Amino acid sequence: MKYRTMGKLGIQTSAFGLGCMRFNGQASGDSVIDEQKAISLIRRAIDGGVTYMDTAYVYLDKTSEIVLGKALQDGYRDKVTIATKMPEHAVHDRASMQALLDEELRKLQTDHIDFYLMHGIDRKGWEYFKSIGAPEFFDDMKKAGKIRYKCFSFHGSYEDFEYIINDSDWDMVQIQYNFMDINDQARTKGLQLAASKGIPVVIMEGLLGGRLAKAPSNVQALYDAFPIKRSPVEWAFRWLCDHPEVSVVLSGCNEAEQIDENLRIFDTVEAGVMSEEERRLMDSVREAYLSRTRIGCTGCRYCMPCPNGVNIPGIFAAWNEVSLYEIDPKWHWGLKQIREKDQGANKCVACGACEAACPQHLNIIEELQRAWAELNG
Ligand SMILES: NC(=O)c1ccc[n+]([C@@H]2O[C@H](COP(=O)([O-])OP(=O)(O)OC[C@H]3O[C@@H](n4cnc5c(N)ncnc54)[C@H](OP(=O)(O)O)[C@@H]3O)[C@@H](O)[C@H]2O)c1
Repeated sequence: MKYRTMGKLGIQTSAFGLGCMRFNGQASGDSVIDEQKAISLIRRAIDGGVTYMDTAYVYLDKTSEIVLGKALQDGYRDKVTIATKMPEHAVHDRASMQALLDEELRKLQTDHIDFYLMHGIDRKGWEYFKSIGAPEFFDDMKKAGKIRYKCFSFHGSYEDFEYIINDSDWDMVQIQYNFMDINDQARTKGLQLAASKGIPVVIMEGLLGGRLAKAPSNVQALYDAFPIKRSPVEWAFRWLCDHPEVSVVLSGCNEAEQIDENLRIFDTVEAGVMSEEERRLMDSVREAYLSRTRIGCTGCRYCMPCPNGVNIPGIFAAWNEVSLYEIDPKWHWGLKQIREKDQGANKCVACGACEAACPQHLNIIEELQRAWAELNG
């Protein structure tokens, strides 16, 4: 296992951090956790050198913290740092924040949390946390020794990220990043901004929740043609660890084989590990994925709101993602939401309001029907 220094904190961490969100088939919609299996996976990772554990109040129907707490008995707690999170929806004042933190400490069977994160905030979420006094609460809990570091996790735009990171004195940030996200979410610019301030960056969704673990044929052909043979998982993690700004790469693992494979990979990767040829390969891989894009919708939302309630950007985003990553539309979360909210293309009456507003001049009416037909088999 390679270890890294966490920016201005100066502490050492394993480059591989175990994400405790996906045990036992969460990705395929199974919410029942196999406790013994999860405990054995967690201990296997720690025995292999992992020192960073990521969980959250809400993961696995609120059972992830409990299972992690059990796994960290018998001397394991002292070998790791724990990151867990405060969800916006569960707190509204100081008393509820205190109650939530105390509950998390009890579930984790520990007297302190190392990295305490405001969970998945964007600018609106940050304003909410400020309005209920969360920054002051986190600072007070640091002084009381109940948490060590004040942090946030993030899934919004770069603009929101820049605002939030400059608006408080953060100890760590957690962002979604992988070789496909260089221009998405906090993006490369956000990673570099955090690092320039000495703030350690923890990466989530390095495999895009598993989507990058299996390459479509045009991408696999590029990997196959490269003189050095590596799995798509190894290329993805290697690309991340090549970045000196990255402190920890989280990955959720469902099987012992995945833990072992990731332990092996993280034994070989450090900042600057990639050659120029390897970096060019990953640029070509990204282009090969993007060549699978079905429609050039940028998600600007000028077409919205649709007078008939069709979620136009949502349908196009799902169409692109299903094509890029060869996802079974049945398992596409965004698409499921669209169906549940009855925002499908079947509601389109071809009024044309969207086409008049689209700065990309897309044939929205026609493309929506194609997308909907393909997504519905
Ligand atoms: N704060 C937030 O808002 C937030 C959001 C998302 C995630 N997170 C945290 O970040 C962690 C990491 O994100 P993630 O779970 O999405 O990570 P990820 O590494 O992008 O995806 C994990 C999935 O990749 C697959 N995988 C992992 N190692 C593999 C290997 N060696 N070979 C083949 N497949 C492999 C597994 O998919 P299969 O299950 O299909 O086998 C696994 O479930 C989460 O567990 C969670 O703790 C936080």
